[in-house]
Amino acid sequence: MKAVIFDKHAAPDVLVFREVEKPVPNDNEVLVRIFDASVNALDYRSIRMGIIPKKRIFGADIAGIVETVGCNVHMFKPGDVSDCGLGGFAEYVTVPERALGPKPADISFEQAAALPVAAITALQALQNKGGIRPGQKVLVCGASGGVGTYALQLAKIFGADVTAVCSTKNVQQAYTLGADHVIDYKREDFTKSASRYDLIAAVNGSYSLFAYKRVLEPGGILVILGGALSQILKAAVIGPFMSAGSRKIRLLAAKPNPADLELIVGFVKDGRLKPVIDRRYPLSDTAEAVRYLEKEHSGGKIVITVI
Ligand SMILES: NC(=O)c1ccc[n+]([C@@H]2O[C@H](COP(=O)([O-])OP(=O)(O)OC[C@H]3O[C@@H](n4cnc5c(N)ncnc54)[C@H](OP(=O)(O)O)[C@@H]3O)[C@@H](O)[C@H]2O)c1
Repeated sequence: MKAVIFDKHAAPDVLVFREVEKPVPNDNEVLVRIFDASVNALDYRSIRMGIIPKKRIFGADIAGIVETVGCNVHMFKPGDVSDCGLGGFAEYVTVPERALGPKPADISFEQAAALPVAAITALQALQNKGGIRPGQKVLVCGASGGVGTYALQLAKIFGADVTAVCSTKNVQQAYTLGADHVIDYKREDFTKSASRYDLIAAVNGSYSLFAYKRVLEPGGILVILGGALSQILKAAVIGPFMSAGSRKIRLLAAKPNPADLELIVGFVKDGRLKPVIDRRYPLSDTAEAVRYLEKEHSGGKIVITVI
């Protein structure tokens, strides 16, 4: 099969398009023929940190068709359509059945591939860490990328009054996705304004934890879920000390969760949540897709079209 393999000696990029052996599922696994995959910050961050998957194939989100199943697999059978798995910048991947969920017929493969990591991260930030409630004032900082576009829409679904923070070129997109207020961070620093928020989801951006905390209402919660590694480390180390009063700082490490994915798929099915796809790249151009996400402020998800 064709796949994009990590090769640390390769140039100009360590992700190279090659012919490799097609995987064979073990007794508990499913072999999926991948139609679409999507790129996440996780891919380039893992490369930078030297965290390389065993089979050297990145790609945490897939959508495709089950081709064969191991003898202990009961939830899926060949021909079943599935989405959400692990390890998929390739034509095929083997995954444990618990990593997969059924894909409704009215959601396209590319929409399904654009969902799992980014939408689950947004959901867990707002719900699990942020305890979002209807009527709350919620600010999404970095509301225009893969995670941010889901966070903005989900906050609206949960009944919040949503302020989206993004750059000039994405202001209109944020309004279209339902934001009540949009702040262009190139023109205005929300941490210096008089507005206060019950929940801030910090997806991206370079504000200090003190600046974020200053614009939290009493009892408010700041969820750090992305941005610079230094910011994430600070939230892990000093966040607990800064949470001594009523304003809390929480750090999210999102985890795959079939119930969360089911909820998200339901929102997409009923038209309330729209995956925003910025660009599509063929599998052979995956290295360029990963570079684009890392360097170019993508406006939504980047999809890899395998078929
Ligand atoms: N905690 C977890 O478990 C978890 C899971 C998945 C992802 N993440 C993290 O979530 C973050 C978001 O990932 P992503 O896939 O959505 O990609 P991303 O690269 O963060 O998204 C790009 C968006 O970020 C915005 N942005 C860049 N600089 C900004 C700034 N200074 N202020 C405000 N917004 C800014 C850009 O908007 P403009 O073009 O409008 O500037 C761009 O649209 C990453 O840091 C990733 O590591 C965390």
